[in-house]
This record gives sequence, structure tokens and C-alpha cells, in this order.
Amino acid sequence: MNIAILSISDTRSPDNDASGQKLAELAGELGNVISREIVTDDAAAISAALIRICDGGDTDCVLTTGGTGFADRDNTPEATRAVIEREAPGIAEAMRRETARFTPYAMLSRAVSGIRGRTLIVNFPGSTKAVEECFEVIRPVLKHAVELLSGRTAH
Ligand code: MTE
Repeated sequence: MNIAILSISDTRSPDNDASGQKLAELAGELGNVISREIVTDDAAAISAALIRICDGGDTDCVLTTGGTGFADRDNTPEATRAVIEREAPGIAEAMRRETARFTPYAMLSRAVSGIRGRTLIVNFPGSTKAVEECFEVIRPVLKHAVELLSGRTAH
């Protein structure tokens, strides 16, 4: 499974991207992290990066971190929704539901999950703690989801 990590923030740099680093570490336990990028919170920049990664043909799964909250510049859900072709709401729903036992603030993430072509996109919140909590929710299903998408498993 080839995984791309996309950090979304106006203020981060490669030296200062803790949640992207954490997400890359966790994803690396399940597959190959083939790219890591940071884009600003601009919706157009986020959508363009997602399209480029998904349509490049090498990436099974894009995991984003950041920009899912209620602030003015939190554009990740809208930018993701603009590029997905099929919704996969169960993933984002499960992350909110299952991690609400750690913090009620889980409700404040508007994270989206969906499919573009043969690539799964999953938004994560922007804190390292949230990434750790939410990743454990999808860990058991990510590989199978990607197998189904790539046509490697008949169901
Ligand atoms: N989800 C989990 N599991 N754990 C957390 O600590 N933080 C929340 C929420 N989701 C959190 C979480 C908070 S405080 C916010 S503001 C939203 O995610 C949105 O975060 P983002 O704008 O950085 O994406």
C-alpha cells in the first residue's frame, strides 16, 4: 500500500510539522509512505494537491492532517469534498465516534473521507494527539479498504 501524507497549514514547515511526522510514522507501519508535503490552508491549494496526488497513479491512500475545525481558514473538508468522486463517510464518522471517549472536542473536527479514482482520501485533525487517537480507529480497516479499491480483492 502506497500512502501519501499531506499536511495542511499556513504556518508549518518541514521542521515544524509534528502531526504530519506522526501520521507518516503510523502510516509507515501499514505501508510505504511515498510522499510527504505541506500546503497552505487555501482551499484551491489543498484541492490541487489532492488531485495531483490521486491522479498521479501511484498512491493508494492520501492521509491529510489539519484544517478540519471551525476556524475561518479551516478549508480541508470543503477542499476534499470538491475532489472526491465517491463518499466514504463511515471512516470519518468512526474516527469522531470512537475518539469522543478521549475528548468531546472530537466533535469539532469536520473531517471528510472519500474516494477519487482508486485513491482513498482521509482527513485527520491537526494535532498529534488527535492523529494518534484517530489512526488507531482506521488501522484495522485501511489495508482492506485499499485492496477493495485497487481491485485486488473480490468481495
Ligand atoms: N479528535 C481527537 N481524537 N482528539 C483530539 O484531541 N481535537 C479536536 C478535534 N478532533 C481532537 C480531535 C479539536 S480541539 C479541533 S479544533 C478539531 O479536531 C479540528 O482540528 P484541526 O482544525 O486542527 O483539524
